Amino acid sequence: MIDAVHPRGPGGPERARPRRGRAACALAAAVAALCAPAGGARADVVRTNYVLHCSGCHGFDGAGAPSAGVPSMKGTVGHFLRTSEGRAFLVQVPGTANSSLNDADTAALLNWIVKTMSAAEMPPDFAPYTTSEVTRLRAARPVDITAVRARIVTDLQKLGYAIR
Ligand code: HEC
Repeated sequence: MIDAVHPRGPGGPERARPRRGRAACALAAAVAALCAPAGGARADVVRTNYVLHCSGCHGFDGAGAPSAGVPSMKGTVGHFLRTSEGRAFLVQVPGTANSSLNDADTAALLNWIVKTMSAAEMPPDFAPYTTSEVTRLRAARPVDITAVRARIVTDLQKLGYAIR
């Protein structure tokens, strides 16, 4: 009676266990293969950094809350890369410069934001942000970032780019 409920021996769990083990190994191998490309894993880290450090104010898709003073980055942020002051601004704006992310992660994050949210507005010769560039720009922040943005927007409008 007890043997029927808890079978032992060749037909019981002892025999089934190795089969489950093989299945688990096959699954682990498949997951490892999916995760293997370094670029893919890195993109996940960058997206997670965006979600953890920026999306609370900027939204998951970068749409922001313009009526509450958080500008949309969708379809606009790439324009800033057309002037050196604009390129610096994306690093020096408080949300970027004051985050707890290190300079390497910040460079990767900005490169991801621009490509993900504003690919069409990126200049064709866009050179990705580097760690040393972020270090330099973070250490040289302008006092009045609002005035800097207004100046950049005026410059970009003069160049013919639709940005407000
Ligand atoms: C606490 C809310 C908040 C968080 C968190 C935040 N931002 Fe912002 N962000 C703002 C606001 C508000 C502005 C408008 C400028 C200002 O007042 O600083 C802004 C502006 C910007 C701009 C300039 C956009 C434009 O068109 O002027 C960029 C780029 C930006 N943030 C990037 C980031 C990144 C990257 C992160 C995450 C590392 C981040 N922000 C986190 C609130 C936030």
